[in-house]
Amino acid sequence: MTPDEPDRIIHADNLAVLPTLPDGAFTLVYLDPPFNTGRAQKRQSTRHVRVEATDDGELVPGFGGGAGTITGFAGRRYERIRGDLLRYDDRFDDYWGFLEPRLVEAWRLLADDGTLYLHLDYREAHYAKVLLDALFGRECFLNELIWAYDYGAKAKRKWPTKHDTILVYVKNPSTYWFDSTAVDREPYMAPGLVTPEKAELGKLPTDVWWHTIVSPTGREKTGYPTQKPEGILRRIVQASTREGDWVLDFFAGSGTTGAVAATLGRRFVLVDENPEAIGVMRARFANIEGVAFQEGADGAAEAIATEAVTTGAVEPAEAVERVEAVE
Ligand SMILES: C[S@@+](CC[C@H](N)C(=O)[O-])C[C@H]1O[C@@H](n2cnc3c(N)ncnc32)[C@H](O)[C@@H]1O
Repeated sequence: MTPDEPDRIIHADNLAVLPTLPDGAFTLVYLDPPFNTGRAQKRQSTRHVRVEATDDGELVPGFGGGAGTITGFAGRRYERIRGDLLRYDDRFDDYWGFLEPRLVEAWRLLADDGTLYLHLDYREAHYAKVLLDALFGRECFLNELIWAYDYGAKAKRKWPTKHDTILVYVKNPSTYWFDSTAVDREPYMAPGLVTPEKAELGKLPTDVWWHTIVSPTGREKTGYPTQKPEGILRRIVQASTREGDWVLDFFAGSGTTGAVAATLGRRFVLVDENPEAIGVMRARFANIEGVAFQEGADGAAEAIATEAVTTGAVEPAEAVERVEAVE
């Protein structure tokens, strides 16, 4: 991806688009796939074949070595772990069958200093962690982020589940880009325990992020049902990219990743197969110059005329808001 290419929003199945994008082009891949609903997802077997060294130095086919088998980028025995895990809970099998070839592509598309953020719910996160450790290599695991919110109905027979999990993996544990000082600071929980100067400055976020959901009546709302808050994406983009870097989100939905990337001077490619998502993004990006919309995986990109609309969704997000009092 070169600096003179336009930011792009592509309407297509992401699995058809990804092979058209160049190796190592993206510093950040953020993915917020649809959660496992229990119904069969579209499956596709993986076609890539690489040769990797195993832990004992044996050379084996990496992605491939037999239809639908993958050994893992670091030469781990991914296939065995995958078999055990998916047999243990076959409801996860369809979901992983859908995600796996897309994650293989995400890995290829990451730059050597790049980072993957995979946004999951608590039902998927643990299976995905084990599989990603085997696929990326455990040494490439950087963080498990917890996005905690407090909104909506509360279960009475268990602890109400009010968090999402974001697994963070780097392509190369020696060279990845991460700058926590570039991130918006947040208020101390007990400001009285630190100096007034420190309290004024705020603290660097940890791996637990308290942040409200997108308010049903707020400025950010696009109407897209699974829209994520700009504040969450803002931290991710600030920490894991520099100005001018390319960001990819191929489960783009309402385009939150691109909206945040644009306000922070990053470049972006967004993909979604749902025409409603594309409609929402046309409105959301209408006042951002130079965004091209592309129909289909290999369609020509069409630059849209920019005109002011009143979504207001692309202003910088406010500082992360702590949820103190709820209901
Ligand atoms: C959870 S939503 C993403 C929401 C997004 N993070 C936001 O802030 O609006 C997941 C998106 O993935 C899209 N999607 C699902 N399967 C896809 C596929 N095979 N190719 C492209 N998009 C897909 C859905 O249409 C949906 O918009």
